Amino acid sequence: MRRLGLIGFSGSGKSSLAAFAAKSGFAAVDSDALIEAKNPNAAELLEQGREEDFRTLETSVISGILKSDFDFAAFGGGVHYAHPAWKEIYESGLKLVYLRSSFEDLIGRFEERPLYRKLGREDYEKLFLARCLLYEKSAAFVVDTDGRGLSEIWSEIEEIWNSLFR
Ligand code: S3P
Repeated sequence: MRRLGLIGFSGSGKSSLAAFAAKSGFAAVDSDALIEAKNPNAAELLEQGREEDFRTLETSVISGILKSDFDFAAFGGGVHYAHPAWKEIYESGLKLVYLRSSFEDLIGRFEERPLYRKLGREDYEKLFLARCLLYEKSAAFVVDTDGRGLSEIWSEIEEIWNSLFR
């Protein structure tokens, strides 16, 4: 199947790179955008401590994505917690590209995100470290993002696409 998923922590550029993909003529979807379209208050669920409700919503959106036609799909930073959609991703054999960033490089990009506002810096950094292990473990490809512009990162992703599918 000719398709790739983008994973990584909040602020690593998943949505922007999906937009790059769309501009380059690929069919690209962004799970967070679809969640927001379905429920404009979805992000607030996280701030209210209703993570389970958010993951339920995320799960149904991801299941829909997996059944649709796409080339690139950007998933939210907590995709591993969206059960059983995560299992579906895994079992579908979808190859994942992990946008790997350091915590320091991301600071300033995620401070407005709901989970950061809920957890505060110390716990958010712990979450980051735990998630990095999950991203590394589940990704077929790793693309480093620190200090790099989006177009440079996109070129590397396109190279991965071409190496697999062209
Ligand atoms: C989340 C990350 C967000 C979004 C939601 C939950 C998380 O996506 O799905 O706020 O659990 O880390 P981004 O990674 O695009 O910020």
